[in-house]
Amino acid sequence: MSHCDRYSRTVIVGGKGMLAAAVARKLSARGIACTSLDRQQCDITDAAAVADLFAARRPTLLINCAAHAKVDLCEQEPEKADAINGHAVGSLAEHAARNGTKLVHFSTDFVFDGSAVQPYRPADPTHPLSAYGRSKLMGERLLQRANPAGWLILRTAWLYGEDGPCFPRTILAAARAGKPLKVVNDQIGSPTYAGDLAAATMELIDRNAGGLFHAVNQGAVSWFEFTRAILEEFHIPADLSPQSSAEWKKSKPAAAHRPAFSVLDSSDLEAAIGHPMRPWRDALHDYHHAIEPK
Ligand SMILES: NC(=O)c1ccc[n+]([C@@H]2O[C@H](COP(=O)([O-])OP(=O)(O)OC[C@H]3O[C@@H](n4cnc5c(N)ncnc54)[C@H](OP(=O)(O)O)[C@@H]3O)[C@@H](O)[C@H]2O)c1
Repeated sequence: MSHCDRYSRTVIVGGKGMLAAAVARKLSARGIACTSLDRQQCDITDAAAVADLFAARRPTLLINCAAHAKVDLCEQEPEKADAINGHAVGSLAEHAARNGTKLVHFSTDFVFDGSAVQPYRPADPTHPLSAYGRSKLMGERLLQRANPAGWLILRTAWLYGEDGPCFPRTILAAARAGKPLKVVNDQIGSPTYAGDLAAATMELIDRNAGGLFHAVNQGAVSWFEFTRAILEEFHIPADLSPQSSAEWKKSKPAAAHRPAFSVLDSSDLEAAIGHPMRPWRDALHDYHHAIEPK
């Protein structure tokens, strides 16, 4: 299949989400037409809607950006999380396998328990701590079992972007409102800019790469250090202090358990696309100028 054929009928599901918007923007910047469907247009848990999608659109490439990504809410709604993040992904994958559609899917660092001392590689043992993590792992497994041609899963982490709520936006709003900020300093991960993840995804598709990849901006920080960098980048003074996860959990007993260390090793991605994703701090700078042009 040529480069152009690969993208000839590209469909995004979960089209109103943060990552979906970043992927659509990257495709558009490259002059690639795509159809982006939101939940109203295609609910991926609705078997008839999914069958219709394949029959009517005959996608060559399906990019699944749909997810129940509200980690704490998933603890209260585990069945809904399993339906969207697990079973529906399996169903998309079965249709994709029957129709020769390449399926691109996204997963999470929360499939790991955070007990590692070095960055996780894709084949490392999983052990999710939360309903969200378990449902995402189910989706990965069902997808791989259905084995659509050239399937691609990118696990990412600490995602933020221009479109939709995300950690930097929450911090900026609170700091601008003059609220004191207490932020966890004992969970370490890799903040990742949705635009960079979208670009890396395109580069993998361009090379017809398949399999399971880790895809995060380079480097690792705590949420506290990330917050300090956000405030510094946007030049906002704030009353910022560190907090332990244990203290944070006391104030939010219903919240999901999160891994203490969920740094992902992206070296397989680097080998596949020929370069690393850029350092997280550089990406944060571009995010700043994307949401507040000079
Ligand atoms: N955000 C992060 O920090 C993070 C970290 C690691 C991995 N990821 C993964 O990255 C991917 C993209 O996440 P994101 O941050 O872009 O999430 P997002 O902004 O919450 O977008 C998810 C989209 O999926 C839609 N959706 C929910 N249920 C659906 C259904 N049944 N059918 C069709 N669409 C449905 C949502 O629509 P409604 O709003 O209308 O429900 C929403 O527009 C997900 O796979 C997520 O698990 C995210």
